[in-house]
Amino acid sequence: MKSALKAGLSALVVGVIVVVGAAVYFMQDDRSSMPTVTQTGQSGKALIGGPFELVDGSGRTVTDKDFRGKYLLVFFGFTHCPDVCPTALSEIALTLDALGEVADKVQPLFISVDPERDTPELMGEYVAQFHPRIMGLTGSPDQVADVAKAYRVYYKKSIPEEEIGKEDPFYVMDHSAITYLMSPDGDFLKHFSHGTAPDEMAAAIRDVVQ
Ligand code: NI
Repeated sequence: MKSALKAGLSALVVGVIVVVGAAVYFMQDDRSSMPTVTQTGQSGKALIGGPFELVDGSGRTVTDKDFRGKYLLVFFGFTHCPDVCPTALSEIALTLDALGEVADKVQPLFISVDPERDTPELMGEYVAQFHPRIMGLTGSPDQVADVAKAYRVYYKKSIPEEEIGKEDPFYVMDHSAITYLMSPDGDFLKHFSHGTAPDEMAAAIRDVVQ
């Protein structure tokens, strides 16, 4: 009995390591400077996520604790993103629709990696174009850096070649494009790589959300 329990626990730990490994693999996604994440906590939980303090679309301060009891679907990006973020947010919107009533238990968060341009108001207006249930969060550069670090998210300002030398160059933010599913206790459950079909994402969420 005892050894069976031990074997089960080892399998669980190996499983968590595989999941974290996969997340790191996808995050690296041509980003060789990405720090490697191979650790799990003492409890065997993946070290993705954690406390954060940000600002919502109405300018109100929110923390991770405000979302306890909800599954979180977390994506990082920026409102000036030409392609990846609009696609990801459209897919999250379709996923919510596919989930039906189960979507009530899921809170999607779009967290800015561009605090310089993404004001609370702009974030609020932007996410509303995709789905009324998606919440846009931004914050000070430090607040954004902290939450990005907690979620092992890469982001970096990048000025396109044709903008270099201009007085006020338009820039983009290179960033990881992973959607995280977090538990109602704030623990990492699953990640979805960019391009995961909404039906597939909805099915995977249904498997987890009771
Ligand atoms: Ni983007």
